[in-house]
Amino acid sequence: MTKPNSKLLKAKPSSSLKNYNNFLGHKRTLSFQCFLTENFNNLPLQLTLMTHSAQDLAVFCRKKGFMYSSSEIYGGLAGLYDYGHLGTKLKHNFENLWRNYFLSLDDNYFEIEAANIMHENVFKASGHLENFIDPIVSCPRCDFSERADHFVQAKTKTRAEGLSPEQLTKLIEKNNLLCPKCGAKLKQVSVMNMMFPVNLGTGRGNRAYLRPETAQSPFVNFKLQYELQRKKLPLGLAVIGKAYRNEISPRNFVLRQREFTQAELQIFFNPAKLNEHKYFDLVKNYKVRTLLVKDRNGNQEQVVEHTAQELVSQGLPQFYVYHLVKIQQFYLDVLKIPKEKLRFYELDEKERAFYNKYHFDIEIELQEFGYTEVGGVHYRTDHDLKGHERVSGQKMEIFDEESASKFIPHVLELSFGVDRNTYALLDLNFDDDKARGNIVLHLSSSLAPFFCAVFPLVKNKPEITAKAEEVYSLVQKQFPCFYDEAASVGRRYARADEIGVRYCITVDFESLEDNAVTLRDRDTTQQERVKITKLLERLSELSSD
Ligand code: GAP
Repeated sequence: MTKPNSKLLKAKPSSSLKNYNNFLGHKRTLSFQCFLTENFNNLPLQLTLMTHSAQDLAVFCRKKGFMYSSSEIYGGLAGLYDYGHLGTKLKHNFENLWRNYFLSLDDNYFEIEAANIMHENVFKASGHLENFIDPIVSCPRCDFSERADHFVQAKTKTRAEGLSPEQLTKLIEKNNLLCPKCGAKLKQVSVMNMMFPVNLGTGRGNRAYLRPETAQSPFVNFKLQYELQRKKLPLGLAVIGKAYRNEISPRNFVLRQREFTQAELQIFFNPAKLNEHKYFDLVKNYKVRTLLVKDRNGNQEQVVEHTAQELVSQGLPQFYVYHLVKIQQFYLDVLKIPKEKLRFYELDEKERAFYNKYHFDIEIELQEFGYTEVGGVHYRTDHDLKGHERVSGQKMEIFDEESASKFIPHVLELSFGVDRNTYALLDLNFDDDKARGNIVLHLSSSLAPFFCAVFPLVKNKPEITAKAEEVYSLVQKQFPCFYDEAASVGRRYARADEIGVRYCITVDFESLEDNAVTLRDRDTTQQERVKITKLLERLSELSSD
């Protein structure tokens, strides 16, 4: 759920905006400018200066081949994107960091891979057939249709998520909102199920769905995995994979797509232990950046840092809070996100997903969109396993030897949108460095698509290119690296900066004499001379940033 953008934006309409409206999937320029004008007299307390627009970033991603519209040669399809090799590497780097971090939280956490097409009954049991609906507003005269809560929110600048179709219809009427395309009176708000049905084989009697969340895969695998993993709780089952939603208005580049990647960890645990975690004492004084329902105050959405212990004292369960801490540490210590860009946004009863008892969104503050949901921490109780027991007829109850009791495990879900996180990493690290005259992507070493690049100073001196190739073959065995000899070395530095290469290694005339190379730091542009025999050691030292 993307929150209304209280940190208002900072206007730098890019010259390339108009050309790329379709690329972003919606007519953003106009509404963005109106938004600024309309809000100008009502500026929020904190005004951040925008250094680039979402459009700038989308153009950059297309130009460098990180990600771009799918089926592009046929004009593209709304809400579907492809990742080029740089985007794929960045996305995989995020996934690998996520995998290593979250699976090592407990020895009993594992990753599984499951089919994307699932039995219709899965979604009867989970409630998606009935409840996975979005409100839609459409025009009786032209082809305009949009998600009704987003439409009302954008027009009235007040939160509309979670409102019923009737409430949204009333707001549309009260505010006299007409079709933005042809000016006609809009239809009453209705609802649409967001799942993609699939007819298997000849189709008769074989109705299935593309999963709208990866979560259902661990739920239907739970009983078997529990038996296989020696019947121990908590049991974590993670999936990194595709999810599919027929979004009414896909938009904002890869932030709202119809096919996207999720990284989700379902933690099955004994509900009697909701208020404990064996390592809680280690984190109890850690300060979590939250925006609690009780701390919300209209448009002034001030983050309040609460220690883990304080959150527990305010009624949140220990098991839940422990994982909030771990997620914050993942963002700050592993992904190296600036602290002030992250917050956990608590959802109230009306806003929560239908299966959640406690629900915080993980939000990152993006340049143009403000705080944006990139994940969620969901206490799903036994909602899903109970549903699967009811519909499949298979017992989900287990006998827990440790507590000598029988129960259906409860689930804490740590849910992350991989594309949104990938976008956020690009957005946070994108720097149009005017002094340098090129873009610099300040990704950390573990995220950058390439850690280093090897350049011969010139390409027409065989002794130099031979030495550079030697250095390349040494380095590329240990570090993600590429070789580039095209254009001047300054141009190659700029190209490397733009795709986030952390270090450039240049072999020059002196290298033939001193067997050393020049190592250039992307962020400082400082250079140091390193003996080739010491190069791997030096790069290893540097790679821990
Ligand atoms: N299993 C729980 C679940 O799916 P969700 O809040 O609907 O919860 C989880 O989705 C995350 O998936 C979101 O926080 C977001 O990062 C990502 N996500 C959801 N819908 C998306 C979309 N249409 N396009 C891209 N990412 C999306």
